[in-house]
Amino acid sequence: MNGSLSRRGFLRQSFAFSALASLGSLPSFAKSHAGNAESFQWLMIGDWGYENATAQEQVAAGMRAYAQQHSLKTDALLMLGDNWYGELPGGVDSPRWKTHFEDLYPKSIFDCPAYAILGNHDYQRMPESKVEAELAYAKRGNTRWIMPARWYSFEFPAKNPLVTVIALDSNMPHANAAPAKSVNFTLTPEEQAAQLRWLKAELEKPRRTPYLIVMAHHPIYSNGPHGDHKVLIADWEPLLREHKAHLYLAGHDHDLQHLEFEGHPTSFVMSGGGGADLYTLKIDEAQRGPYAAKAYGFSHLQIAADKLTLLHMDQTGRMIHGFTKTPDGQVKILS
Ligand SMILES: [Fe+2]
Ligand SMILES: [Zn+2]
Repeated sequence: MNGSLSRRGFLRQSFAFSALASLGSLPSFAKSHAGNAESFQWLMIGDWGYENATAQEQVAAGMRAYAQQHSLKTDALLMLGDNWYGELPGGVDSPRWKTHFEDLYPKSIFDCPAYAILGNHDYQRMPESKVEAELAYAKRGNTRWIMPARWYSFEFPAKNPLVTVIALDSNMPHANAAPAKSVNFTLTPEEQAAQLRWLKAELEKPRRTPYLIVMAHHPIYSNGPHGDHKVLIADWEPLLREHKAHLYLAGHDHDLQHLEFEGHPTSFVMSGGGGADLYTLKIDEAQRGPYAAKAYGFSHLQIAADKLTLLHMDQTGRMIHGFTKTPDGQVKILS
């Protein structure tokens, strides 16, 4: 790392766009793109299936209202892990699947696949494995829940794809922990190594899309209390850099962040405001940013051939931060 870009630097860089935004073009952003066949709308949340569902229900209501107000036809949801906190009674048959997934993010509004990855809370036996339950739920017919394996990849859309997504399992073995039998289990060291081999092989394949996105529950860098992740910095960060991943999407810290590093091709985005109790940030956005906020909310990724647009929205569906990124890696802050 060569240190972070300052927020001021970004604001200078994006002056032209900011001037445009102040004329009022931003509020109609989503609407103006609705129905545009050449762009795709994804919404994402992390850390959402909380035991006390009050905040989850508020954020979900904000997502539904946002989609409806902007006539947004969503093409995908990303469920960034910590999908289920606490007990999941009945596992794959748990009533929580209906009450706190299918009903809160209903097919009537979000008629699209929901690509899911596993968080640390999914790796708790309550008493049975929620990991097994989530993999099994994806195998049911007539569900939007996509989790073909603990790590997987896909291209989107199927025809003339614009983005390659690599979905990873960041539940790394603890340095000194007894393997696998405990309540809070993780990948085994062998699984960690197997996933890393698979990831390298995926990245070595000739990429057919202008964009590469990697997603996993744990941040590599975070201004939140979990901080920077030594294992992921060692295992994955050099690969993101080498293969010029455009976005690394994560949750785990219960806040909304966007971090950029001088000379790094990857934008680090955290969307962990889906419903679990918020955390207080440890590093201010002025120190490392451009954005970090203790806020509930969700994120909207728009994918078009000329640029990606990532918007952080609060629980009422109000935009609190946004940026665009071109295929060649130019980032502009929307403010
Ligand atoms: Fe969490
Ligand atoms: Zn977590």
